[in-house]
Amino acid sequence: MTPTASAALAEALAFLRQFSRTAKMTGSVAPSGAALSRALTRHIHPGTPHHPRAVLEVGPGTGAVTRHLAPRLGPHDTLELIEANGPFVDHLTTALQHDLRLAAIAHRTRLHHGLIQDQKLGHYDNIVCGLPFANFPPPQIEAVLGQLLSSLRPGGRLSFFTYLGGRAIQHLNPRQALSRHVLREAIAPHVVGSEIVLSNLPPAYVHHLLAPAPVTCHCGALDNP
Ligand SMILES: C[S@@+](CC[C@H](N)C(=O)[O-])C[C@H]1O[C@@H](n2cnc3c(N)ncnc32)[C@H](O)[C@@H]1O
Repeated sequence: MTPTASAALAEALAFLRQFSRTAKMTGSVAPSGAALSRALTRHIHPGTPHHPRAVLEVGPGTGAVTRHLAPRLGPHDTLELIEANGPFVDHLTTALQHDLRLAAIAHRTRLHHGLIQDQKLGHYDNIVCGLPFANFPPPQIEAVLGQLLSSLRPGGRLSFFTYLGGRAIQHLNPRQALSRHVLREAIAPHVVGSEIVLSNLPPAYVHHLLAPAPVTCHCGALDNP
C-alpha cells in the first residue's frame, strides 16, 4: 500500500471510530470526498498583500476539506480551524506538521479545540462549515447560523453541506425532520447557490450563503436634520 493510501485508510478508520463513539456530533461515517471538498471550497480565492483573506473552517474533522482549502489560500491569508472532537484535534495537529499540503499553511493556521457555540469569532471572508446541522436542535441551528453569518465580512461567503436522502427517511425521525425544516427556513434569505454532489458517501447538497447586508442606521438623520 502507498503512503497516501495508508494515510487515507487511517483517516477513514479514525472517522469511523469517532462515528461509533459520538454519531450525532460526528455526523457522518466517512470524511468528505474530493468532489464535495472541491464544491465547499470553490468560493475561496487568494487574497493580496494589501487585502489578505481570513478563512474559518468549522468542524474540520480529520482535515479532508482543509487539504483542498489550503492550496486556495494566498501567502498572506490566514486560516482558523474550530473542532469539538479531541481525537480529531490530535489528528489535525499531527497532520499540520506532517501532511505536505497542511504543513505549507501551518504557520498561518490556528487550531482551536472546542464547540463553535463557545468561541468568540473574528471576521472572515469565507467560512466553510462541516457541522452536522441536521442533528442539532432548532434553537442551536438558528444560534450557530446567526453566529456564522454575523462573522462574515461584507461580501463574504458561508459554504456548508447537508446530506441527500434525509428527506426520504425523515418520517422515521420527526426531530430531524424539524431540524431540516428550520435549517431550510433559516438559510433561505441568504442562499446564493446550491449544488448536488452525487459522488460522495453519502451524496450531499452544498449551500453557498452570502453575508447579510450591513444594517445602515439613519436614526441620527431624524435627530439632526
Ligand atoms: C460531518 S463531520 C465533517 C468533517 C469534515 N469537515 C469533513 O467534511 O470530512 C462534522 C464535524 O463537525 C464537528 N463538530 C460537531 N459539532 C461541533 C460543534 N458544535 N463545534 C465544533 N465542531 C463540531 C465534528 O466533531 C466533526 O468533525
